[in-house]
Amino acid sequence: MSEALIRFSGVSHRYRDGGRDILREADFQLAHGEMAFLTGPSGAGKSTMLKLIALLERPSKGEIVVDGQTLSQVRTRDVPAYRRQFGMIFQNFNLLSDRTVFDNVAMPLVIRGHTGDDIGRRVRAALDAVGLRGREKDWPVTLSGGEQQRVGIARAVVAKPRLLIADEPTGNLDPAMALEVMQLFTRFNEVGVSVLVATHALGLINRLPHRILKLDDSLLSEVRAAEQAA
Ligand SMILES: Nc1ncnc2c1ncn2[C@@H]1O[C@H](COP(=O)(O)OP(=O)(O)OP(=O)(O)O)[C@@H](O)[C@H]1O
Ligand SMILES: [Mg+2]
Repeated sequence: MSEALIRFSGVSHRYRDGGRDILREADFQLAHGEMAFLTGPSGAGKSTMLKLIALLERPSKGEIVVDGQTLSQVRTRDVPAYRRQFGMIFQNFNLLSDRTVFDNVAMPLVIRGHTGDDIGRRVRAALDAVGLRGREKDWPVTLSGGEQQRVGIARAVVAKPRLLIADEPTGNLDPAMALEVMQLFTRFNEVGVSVLVATHALGLINRLPHRILKLDDSLLSEVRAAEQAA
């Protein structure tokens, strides 16, 4: 079998000022093209796991490989470039307040060297996909929490990354919009994007066919395997 897209091997993590292991000897793989949900109680360490993948944290022990890159070998100065390869949606939306919605969403394309009409077309398509058509000129502060969250989602998907990681992407959305966002991720997955989503929205993910992992008491377990479609 070819190398997984994400592989955790014996990964343990404990914050320097925190007394307990957040993760203990975790082994986990996300295959190329796979979509999975990460669940578990508040404080279990779901965000921590995504931060380890995003190199916002480094594990206390063990090895993480993402798309062939051994993360312990990625130097601090190369972390921004590492991170830009992927689509990432975090709990705080991280929108730039001095840029319009359009410019926030366009950022990954500008960094990749896209220009002019191409940027406009892709940004509008991404905003359309999250139900924010026509909001290009708005400023982030004038948007609701859920709207800001969706701008963050549009920005994460606009450059069609091959890996999307999302932390509670539907936390601020009403049920209908939450379902739409999860279905948007599913559509990305259907065209080959690998997706890992940390979420509390059990009612929602039980309606979707993807693999479900649970993190509880520092241990990672498989709640629903990839084959057992709902
Ligand atoms: N920077 C930090 N320093 C010390 N402890 C931290 C830090 N960040 C998180 N923690 C602790 O690590 C544990 C796991 O936090 P994490 O945010 O990963 O949980 P979570 O599963 O994402 O929870 P939620 O569902 O509420 O988002 C918590 O007990 C938290 O207090
Ligand atoms: Mg969290």
